[in-house]
Amino acid sequence: MILRHPVQSVLIGLSKGNRLMPPKRKQRILVAIDGPAGAGKSTIAARLAQRLEVPYLDTGAMYRAVALLALRDGLPTALDEAGAARVVELMENHRIEVSGGISGNRIEIDGDDVSSEIRTPECSLMASAVSAIPEVRQALVPMQRRLGLEKGGVMEGRDIGTVVFPDADLKVFLTASAEERAQRRHRDLANHEVAVSIDEVREQQNRRDHQDTSRSESPLQVAPGSVVVDTTDLSLDKVIERLMAEVANLFPQGA
Ligand code: DC
Repeated sequence: MILRHPVQSVLIGLSKGNRLMPPKRKQRILVAIDGPAGAGKSTIAARLAQRLEVPYLDTGAMYRAVALLALRDGLPTALDEAGAARVVELMENHRIEVSGGISGNRIEIDGDDVSSEIRTPECSLMASAVSAIPEVRQALVPMQRRLGLEKGGVMEGRDIGTVVFPDADLKVFLTASAEERAQRRHRDLANHEVAVSIDEVREQQNRRDHQDTSRSESPLQVAPGSVVVDTTDLSLDKVIERLMAEVANLFPQGA
């Protein structure tokens, strides 16, 4: 697998003279956001990155791109050993490219934009399955680490605070009740014209929650030192204000 990261060029651009950084904060900042599916991570991480004027990296999209390769190859979401080996082979033979930065990420496979295709319910389930393969994580994690260490940003996923950046400036664990998460996911899919029943969303969410928290390799956990935010009854603005206040605490002098 070859993964190119134009994100890096965005990061480099940002570092020059802190042109796009908030005027008072000159230090690099790295925010790690983890949590289960439907907790609002992507929207919140992207919005926070915009407010902080730093790059945003959606690490789940990387696992989703690998999942799309597996789906296109006809593999079932219940991966056996041979299936897992095939996923690794596919990953090595295709070029997955992540680009974008402040407002969102664009994912390409061999030059084709798959940013929408990776959002289907089927791809969500397969992403959860391929993310349990140690070789897949061993390929993706070092890249995520390299990007964050170079220039910082807001990075979201399942293991950012526990494995990728245990020393992030701010670690956040976003959560919400299972029912609220399912309702949000259902609305989101409907907005993207994906027809799926709420029962199906609940069932898939349960499967993903179980897989993501019980896998042996980097399971979803609250990283030590995380700020835990339950977003069930919080508006997006309230969550952002809460996180901006946490950032302000880190940089009391704006230094
Ligand atoms: O955040 P998401 O729903 O796009 O993630 C898709 C899957 O990828 C999720 O079920 C678990 C996996 N994932 C992971 O294991 N580690 C990450 N850092 C991000 C996602």
